[in-house]
Amino acid sequence: MEELFGGAAPYYARYRPGYGKAAIAFLARTLGADSQVLDLGCGPGTIAIPLARRVRAVLAVDPAEEMLAEGRRLAAGVPAVRWLRGDSTTLRALPPFDHVVMGRSFHWMDRAAVLAELDELLPPGGTVALLGPAGRPGEPWQPDAQPWQAIERRVCADFGLDIDAAAASFHATGEPHHDLLAASPFRRLESRTFARRLVWDVDGLVGLQLSYSYSSPAVLGDRLGAFVVAFREALLAGNPAGRWEQDLVTEVLIAGRTEPRPPARTRRSSTSW
Ligand SMILES: C[S@@+](CC[C@H](N)C(=O)[O-])C[C@H]1O[C@@H](n2cnc3c(N)ncnc32)[C@H](O)[C@@H]1O
Repeated sequence: MEELFGGAAPYYARYRPGYGKAAIAFLARTLGADSQVLDLGCGPGTIAIPLARRVRAVLAVDPAEEMLAEGRRLAAGVPAVRWLRGDSTTLRALPPFDHVVMGRSFHWMDRAAVLAELDELLPPGGTVALLGPAGRPGEPWQPDAQPWQAIERRVCADFGLDIDAAAASFHATGEPHHDLLAASPFRRLESRTFARRLVWDVDGLVGLQLSYSYSSPAVLGDRLGAFVVAFREALLAGNPAGRWEQDLVTEVLIAGRTEPRPPARTRRSSTSW
């Protein structure tokens, strides 16, 4: 799994947009200030770090050591995060938790298996929260919706990169998360969207590009320098002002059980990790 984002972690941490204060505040209010939260597929702590300031503790789990290292570096001074290497197949090895959040990571997993296992591991009031891009309110997210993406597509094609994997890196292929959850024990859904306008410069768009799994430094290998030059030149040729705006809508999808599981079958997180 590590090679999926090989070399991307520093770019991810610096250039991938977070979810914004309002989305994190809503998430924290919903989960509760006293909760211990598993952030599964935490990356460099995009959710874990701001959430840890608002809940009791966050267990930040990711299979990529480079992501965890970046998270540990960024979280210096935020004691309520514990970083652990692991993934969606090692949930039973983790200490008990009250809720699970996944930011742009659920689609990398065997989603049905994860939900079935979480149904056994989460306490009666435990919820599964998914965070990710939502497109404009009421519209599905579109991979080609941003003003620079025709250029990105062209340069990536020149380098033999599969930009359509970008869609997979944001959203599950196959059944949408909503539908899968609606057919699971966590079928009580609440969705909130949070809109923001971001402004990018050319360094930001190049850094963002290197944060994607399909165009990571590991994928580009010794073509990394040539790719950066070509992408930068193409971006500025298309827009000499070097300024791009993006309307970004984040969705926070909270999924809870309609009927709580009997407590005897669940593990409670009564002690701090
Ligand atoms: C797009 S990043 C999301 C990082 C962060 N959660 C965020 O919201 O920005 C996806 C992360 O999921 C991790 N990942 C991939 N497969 C996973 C799995 N099966 N279980 C847990 N995490 C996984 C990757 O290593 C990567 O750090």
